[in-house]
Amino acid sequence: MITIGVLTISDGASHGQREDLSGARIRFLVTQLPEAVIQAGAIVPDERDQISALLREWSDEKRLNLILTTGGTGLAPRDVTPEATLDVIEREAPGIAEAMRFNSLQYTPMAMLSRGLAGVRGNSLIINLPGSPKAVKECLEYILPVLPHAINLLI
Ligand code: MTE
Repeated sequence: MITIGVLTISDGASHGQREDLSGARIRFLVTQLPEAVIQAGAIVPDERDQISALLREWSDEKRLNLILTTGGTGLAPRDVTPEATLDVIEREAPGIAEAMRFNSLQYTPMAMLSRGLAGVRGNSLIINLPGSPKAVKECLEYILPVLPHAINLLI
């Protein structure tokens, strides 16, 4: 079984002003993983401490295998997802983020603007995805085949 948490990071979605289409897209795409079970989901505003607190809880207490975040990876002043992720990960897995950016450039040069990170805390693999449903699909579909092996290495 692969236990998964989906964290949407968006001021608009957290205040109910925008539907969480990106989180929904993640939940749909991960059904392609063998024995995937979504055990946590949340929507938080672009606040570094709230993001890092949830990432800590989901890795230390829920002990999720995989935590996927969406949003807050760009250059806007309130985009703090990479900083919040860096606050909690013990080891970076830069190849995952590099691969997503590399593959995404075929769709849009804007892909270079995502500062998303990937890394490990305890037994959890944490991966930052950009904020739009389109970007989520383009990034997640590319790395999905690698994730079962990555998660196995952490158990
Ligand atoms: N990656 C893919 N594959 N497809 C996209 O459309 N959009 C980019 C980039 N990465 C995009 C993408 C854009 S426009 C931005 S601003 C950054 O992701 C950061 O997005 P975020 O701040 O919503 O996380």
